[in-house]
Amino acid sequence: MKTFPDNFLWGGAVAANQVEGAYQEEGKGLSTSDVQSQGIFGPVTERVAGDSGIKDIAIDFYHRYPEDIKLFAGMGFSCLRVSIAWTRIFPNGDEQQPNEAGLAFYDRLFDELAAHDITPMVTLSHYEMPWGLVNQYGGWGSRQTIGFFERYARAVLARYKEKVKLWLTFNEINMSLHAPMTGVGLPETSSKSEVYQAIHHQLVASALVVRACHEIIPDARIGNMLLGGLMYPLTCKPEDVLEALQQNRAWQFFGDVQCRGSYPGYMLRFFRDNGIQIDITDADREALKSTVDYISFSYYMTGCATADDALNQQLRGNILSMVPNPHLASSEWGWQIDPLGLRTLLNVLWDRYQKPLFIVENGLGAKDKPDADGVVQDDYRISYLNDHLVQVREAIDDGVEVMGYTSWGPIDLVSASKAEMSKRYGFIYVDRDDSGKGTLARSRKKSFWWYKEVIATNGESL
Ligand code: BG6
Repeated sequence: MKTFPDNFLWGGAVAANQVEGAYQEEGKGLSTSDVQSQGIFGPVTERVAGDSGIKDIAIDFYHRYPEDIKLFAGMGFSCLRVSIAWTRIFPNGDEQQPNEAGLAFYDRLFDELAAHDITPMVTLSHYEMPWGLVNQYGGWGSRQTIGFFERYARAVLARYKEKVKLWLTFNEINMSLHAPMTGVGLPETSSKSEVYQAIHHQLVASALVVRACHEIIPDARIGNMLLGGLMYPLTCKPEDVLEALQQNRAWQFFGDVQCRGSYPGYMLRFFRDNGIQIDITDADREALKSTVDYISFSYYMTGCATADDALNQQLRGNILSMVPNPHLASSEWGWQIDPLGLRTLLNVLWDRYQKPLFIVENGLGAKDKPDADGVVQDDYRISYLNDHLVQVREAIDDGVEVMGYTSWGPIDLVSASKAEMSKRYGFIYVDRDDSGKGTLARSRKKSFWWYKEVIATNGESL
């Protein structure tokens, strides 16, 4: 019978800037997320305390985490993926010493998880960095940022070495090509050389932190995190097949460097063909040799690639400019739903790297409405997650090594792309709307009970 391994980790994933709130408490500095109140694609805006930017409070996880963790434990979670807000530890990014109050907060959080036997998985930078580093140094455009990131990472690795054994460096590192979270603008506003130089700095920083983690916590595992943007050729025309290969390489390149330890030949050609000049030192090349222990990725959708320029202009739609697949339905936000694509992606990654895989995000953003009894009957979410998990089980049966699955947003949170509350992913409903109104009370949706059963049976109920 097809099964999940006995030690398979089940749980959910959240990010500091999308749940914590408390954006200026206990010495926290402003992050890039704090100044992008309209989401990761939005403009930088001045923040004024109490101006009701939705992320100022988010879902108030900073104060309510004991209640939330109890609810997660009620579903039987064995793993919770969280991120550390870099600005709680180094408020401006360039301080010599960490902020003790920020460190103490995550101690309390990890202790609470331990009390419920939930393994923490920690992302060091989830779509945010200190605004001070962007303002004063140019963010990842500056080589100095590598040192600031390593200092921050070493501080938290040393502090939590007994409490955290699963780490991730940058969330969806390949999104640096599409959104200006790195302090370097979009390709429209920065040159390709500037964008790839900033990415190079991040890749070197990631590798240096992999090395630091191996030194500081020898029994820990540290991985990368990719947005798994699997592309299919729109047709079987050879030109479309080649175009899909190239578009897949646009994200696989990050995995290739982080898993294999050097720049692949196709990327060097891409740089040559596009007149991209980047500064790669011998020390950088040496640093990149520290490769990750496992690969984590998010999976929401697939897209199609075509070499036909006219079709591209006409059809390219969602955030990654994918051409829609005529065979798939879409979510309310236009994200195409493709459970089988998850099995394919798991196999592609396994065949390419032969490293353990962890699905650290997957889920359906939907407009939930509580019924007359106050319960969200989210059968659509159950069906989405069920279909995806069935394909994970198929991939395991194909021989792929999968460490675990953390669904995105097990509790409703602020969306990353548009900073809205109405795009809900949770098993737990949070009473707060897009304008910030609501009691912040938590309640269980129908999917809460479904996921509890999945975990209790280690996937046999699927
Ligand atoms: C991933 C991010 O891209 O997708 C999360 O790592 C994000 O931070 C998630 O929330 C879903 O995207 P959105 O825009 O629906 O929140």
